[in-house]
Order: sequence, then C-alpha cells, then structure tokens
Amino acid sequence: MSDIESIIQHMTLEEKAALCTGAGPWSTTAIPRLGVPELVVSDGPHGVRRPIDASKIGSLSHPATCFPTASSLACTWDVALLRDMGAALAEEANALDVGVLLGPGNNMKRTPLCGRNFEYFSEDPFLAGELAASLIEGLQSGGVGASLKHFAANNQEYQRFSINAEIDVRTLREIYLAGFERAVKKGKPWTVMCAYNRLNGTFCSEHHELLVDILKDEWGFEGLVVSDWGAVHDRVAALRGGLDLEMPGPKPSRVQAVIQAVQDGALDEAVLDESVRRILKIVFKAAETPKGGTFDQQAHDALARKVAAEGMVLLKNNGILPLKPGLKRIAVIGRAAETPHYQGGGSSHINPTRVAMPLKELQQQAGSAELFYAAGYPADDQFRQDLLDQAVSVARDAEVALLYIALPTYKDSEGYDRADLDLTAQQVALIQAVSAAQPNTVVILNNGSAVVMSEWIAGVSAVLEAWTMGQAGGAAIADVLFGKVNPSGKLAETFPLKLADTPAYLNYPGEGGKVRYGEGLFIGYRYYEAKQTPVQFPFGYGGSYTTFAYSNATVSAAAFKDTDGLTVTVDITNTGTVAGKEVVQVYIHDHKSALVRPYKELKGFAKIELQPGKTKTVTIALDDRAFAYYHPGYGQWITEDGEFDILIGASSADIRCQQTVTLHSTRKLPSLLNPESTIREWLDDPRGKIVFGPMFQQMMEGFGRALGEATDGNEMIGMDATSMLMDMPLLSILHFQDAALSAPPEAIVHGLLQRVHQLAE
Ligand code: BGC
Repeated sequence: MSDIESIIQHMTLEEKAALCTGAGPWSTTAIPRLGVPELVVSDGPHGVRRPIDASKIGSLSHPATCFPTASSLACTWDVALLRDMGAALAEEANALDVGVLLGPGNNMKRTPLCGRNFEYFSEDPFLAGELAASLIEGLQSGGVGASLKHFAANNQEYQRFSINAEIDVRTLREIYLAGFERAVKKGKPWTVMCAYNRLNGTFCSEHHELLVDILKDEWGFEGLVVSDWGAVHDRVAALRGGLDLEMPGPKPSRVQAVIQAVQDGALDEAVLDESVRRILKIVFKAAETPKGGTFDQQAHDALARKVAAEGMVLLKNNGILPLKPGLKRIAVIGRAAETPHYQGGGSSHINPTRVAMPLKELQQQAGSAELFYAAGYPADDQFRQDLLDQAVSVARDAEVALLYIALPTYKDSEGYDRADLDLTAQQVALIQAVSAAQPNTVVILNNGSAVVMSEWIAGVSAVLEAWTMGQAGGAAIADVLFGKVNPSGKLAETFPLKLADTPAYLNYPGEGGKVRYGEGLFIGYRYYEAKQTPVQFPFGYGGSYTTFAYSNATVSAAAFKDTDGLTVTVDITNTGTVAGKEVVQVYIHDHKSALVRPYKELKGFAKIELQPGKTKTVTIALDDRAFAYYHPGYGQWITEDGEFDILIGASSADIRCQQTVTLHSTRKLPSLLNPESTIREWLDDPRGKIVFGPMFQQMMEGFGRALGEATDGNEMIGMDATSMLMDMPLLSILHFQDAALSAPPEAIVHGLLQRVHQLAE
C-alpha cells in the first residue's frame, strides 16, 4: 500500500472533511499526527502575490516581480519564453514559501469588454492552450504547482458569481474547453480552479460532467480541483461533483456538513476519499521542493523587460519608428509616461520589486535629445482643456511627439466589465490635437484588452500596443521605440472597429441570470471572417522594423491518414535590413463538412529569429486533432474524408502560401440515420447513400414523369422537385405513396436502416 493509501486508512472522518476545506485564506489543513503538512497557495498569475499577513485576503503582499499580464504574454507567441517566465515565477514562489501559484487564467476572450481580459490569453483556444501549457511546464519544472483557471466559461465578470452560461456542446468543446484541454493534457497542472458561474444550469463547482467526466476521466487530469474563492454553494454537492478542495477557509460549517453527510449516508465516503487522495498527492508533491531563500530580483526584472518587449505589437508605422539617432527635441506626452499602467486590478495585483518609469527610461536611451513632458490628460475622466493646450504646445515645438496613453486603471479590473471600448474623451481629443500639431506622432497604448481607434488612428504616424506590460514595461517601450528591440508581437485578439461589430454584441451580458452564447463557435476572427466584417487589426497581426518573405511551402503528403497527421514546412527570409523575429501561423480550411465550420482555424505556429538576408526553414506539425471537429451527434471529435487547405501566413488576414491536401479519415463512426432522417441525410451518409441511392433514383424518375405529364395550372410547374424533397423525411414521403407501396412505410425504412447497420459491421 502506498503512503497516501495508508494515511487515508488512518485518517478520521473529521480529518478527511477538514482536509477538503482550506485552513485559512491561502493554506490547506495540516494533519501533524499523520505527517501531512499544509499546502500554501497564492495568486497569480503573472507574479507571486504572497500576503505579508497570510491570515487576511486583502493584505499587502511581499514584493515580487510583476511580469506582463496574459494579454501581453499571448502576443509574444513564444512558448520558450513563457516557459522561462514560469521557471522564474517558481523561483519566486519557492522563496516566498508558496507551493501552488493560482494561474494561469485560460478563459477565452469572448468579448473585449470582459474586465479580466488582461489576465487571459486569447480569443483562440489553440494559441491560449499552447501558451498556458508552456507557462505551466515552466512553473512546475521549478517544483511549484499551477492552478489553471477559471474552469469553465468565466468569460465575463458581469454577474460572475451566479450567471448561467448557456453554451451548446460543440461550442463548449471546440472553443471554451479546448484551450483548457490542451493545457491540461500538455502542461499537466497540479491543480485546476473551477469557475464561479453556472454552466448550462449547474454551478461549475458542482458540475460532475465538467469536473469528473470530462476533466478527470476523459482528459486524465490527475491533480486536484480547487474552488475559486467562494465558488462553493453546497459543499456536499460539490464533492459529489468532483470539487476536491474548497477555498478559502476556515469554514467549520462546511466541514461539519461533510461529516454529517457521510454519517447520514448522503455522501459515499469513497467519494470523499477520492478527493482526499488527490489533495494529499499534491500536498506531498509540493513538499518535495525546499522553500525559502531569495530570488534574483535584477535578473527577473530583466526577464520581465524582455517578455514585455516581445509582447508589444507594432500596429501602425509609417516609418517614424524606430526613432532615428540625432533627434534634438522629443515631446513626451501623457500621464502614463510618469505613472505607468502596467497591471490590472483585483486578485492578480502584484506588489512589484521596482517599477520602470517610461519617461526616465526614454531619457536614458535618448542620447543627446532633449525631452519635454506634458501630462496631457488628468488621472480621472474629467476634461481639462489646459492640459490639452499645454500638450499641443509642447508637441508643436518638438521633432516627434510620443503619446503615452493608458486606459484608466479602473477599466482593467477583476469583478466587473468595461462599459465600452473607448479611451477617455480627453485622450481621444489629445491624440487628435497633438497629431494635428505634430506630423510625427507616435501613440503608445497601455490597456489589458482591445480598444477602438477609428476616431484618431488615421492622423498618427505610429501606434505601439504595449499592453499591461508588467513592472519593466516602461523600459521595454524605450527599447522598442529606439530600435534596441525589433518588435515582433502579434495580436492574440482582434481589434474591432467598433463595439457593435463584436461577436457577442447581441448576446452579452445576458439577462434574467443567463447569458446565451448565441454566436456559437464564431468568436474572434472566426466571427469577423464569417460575417465579412472589417476590423481595425486582425488576429495574428503585428508589424516589424524588417520584412519577411514566405516561400517554398511544402506538406509531407498530398494525401494522408488523419492518425498520421501532416508536417508543413515553409522558408522564411528576412528581406529587410535589420534582424527580427517572425511568427509564422498555420491555419486550416476544410472544403466541405457535415456541420458548419469556421472558414479558417489556427492549428500551428512558430516564432523564429532571422538576421537580415538570412533564410530559415520552419517546420510545423499538424496532428489528427488539427483537422477534427466535435460532432455532438457522435459525442466525439471526428474527422471527415476530404480536402483541406493548409494556409500559411503572417496573420489570419495575410496568408502567404497555400497547399491543398486530402485527408482520409480512419474513424469508424456509427450511422446517425434514424426513422426520421431526411432525404438529404440519407444521401449525405456514405452507407445511407449505398442503400438508399437506387431507391432515390426511382423516386426522382417518378417525380420527373409526374412533372412531365403536368399541364398548365398544375401547381408543381416551375418547382425544383429535388430541392423540395431534400429536407423531407423519407418516411413522410413514403406515407404520401402508401397505396402504391408493397409494404408499410415503416417497414421499408426499417429494412433500409437494417441494411445500413449491416454495412457498418
Ligand atoms: C479570483 C481568482 C483568484 C482567487 C484568490 C478569486 O476572486 O477569481 O482568480 O485566484 O480569487 O484570490
């Protein structure tokens, strides 16, 4: 018997119940008599928020490196870098006695209004899943567990504690669970945190299908499921539903409820034991790594600076960037140059070890150029003409104006959503006035999620999206502006032209306690492409100080079996004059499918660095899943025979090379035909077509004759008989012909179905 099994055997019912509820806000219950230590957890995700007074939820925390938030991390598209960041987080967590870091967050960006988007990666589950897995791998390589959160469908903060997200099964699997699935299977997080909200009627904290059937059984998750802080409503129902650890504690009433339920026979003790087993496993795993010591603040600050620079996205550049040497007078405008907006509000808030002030960092790299600063806008939403006038006069006297524009901090926060996608009225007026007075105006943005720009973007020379960039972001901005770093970030979320264009617009935030995900699979670029809605900047887009050419795209096979997968290669050449990095993206387009599919979907990517004039061959593997979709009828991921385009590009809207391949599906699927199936369904089903095809031909000939004999005034003249029949159930058609049939319609259909099933065997 393993140690854990023997501990379980020796535990009292009271000890088991207590272990499944936190001892404090950030720790589990220790059982000294059995040698079970406590497990310390801490937020997360982009830094270690270890409270100085661990008995309180809102205590000031120990200084730790504030890395860029997930919206910035995602735009790096750099899995190796995220692994490094994860490893650095582990060093800090170990130094601060933390065994599990509460992150990363991996919810989809369904609407750019979600207040917590700064903590989430992307609108695309493949990208988000890959990045989350890397961060988890890095963190756990240092002996610190991750807590992948918030599982699942916590895609808005509005009514997050109660709202019921109504999502059809296919959308759930392909969009809202797929990123978690990838992160769980690849990253193997020690813990997963369940979301506050309800999903299709059941609280995620009690959702057996979600936590047990899918997460634990289907995906093979071996760690523990922890509640979001305060997400449990009925402790016993939550244990039954697969929620192992309730946080925060202490909660004596919950412990009592569990004891009572076992004693009454309402809760099977084996269910409790299973949660105890999972918790003990992680408690002991965390205890293997020694705690204490220090971490290298300077090295981690340097890493945070590197990550921040890699996450920045050059959205527009008419050639003004990088700033040329020899500039004499630079106007620096905008409060964010002095008080940077580098993280969001809420549980992820980090007490940074230091903060790089953008203005000072510029000064350090500006050489002999003189900097002239104006605040430009107030700290609140007021309109201040004097600040605007001052800024314009400073801008007019300079050779270039750098405008640091940060979303007011209250607009990037946990707990509530944004009301709009706008900058403040003063910020918009400021950009317009400064760019009118100064032809060389560069806008540097700090925000955790997309903003709209149509009122001002045409007038400015360049836009750099710097995101909520972490404590060293101020220095990273200077690195990019002066060309010390060539920007290579690409958008992990679409920037719309206006709020009304966004996918969830008509189905957000919900009412009557429900939010219906009516746009289905079509979020982010999947939506904009399907609706042919123009956007400000598409998913995957980002500029550089150099240019790249794509050539020689090849695929490993023109025809392939789904289980063999496919390898794609393409040559990338740096055709500019400076070194740079390119993010190569591979999308697939399915020519024909039984169920509707988005026009294209991201299935692979790679980031490479190239010196000017150099070429590298990039190889990207596409596995079986890359071609599959979730079919609710079969209740599984399926592939279908047929042609796919492999689209290789620099963004979702900039496809540079294309190859067409033919997939052969090895899936043996049962037939979905049933007595109510329509003619179209019979003909679309490969076995149905064999069995029913000849009969269909006879039926059509009969129809043709009837139409041929029809005379003027006959209502069937001018009709397309085939189209009319297609969506009628075969059985209904046979009933019209009952008198002419040799057997009852039901018997005929039954006979056909039997032959279909025989073919399947
Ligand atoms: C947040 C989680 C966080 C937890 C602990 C909750 O309100 O949703 O993301 O980890 O608090 O602070």
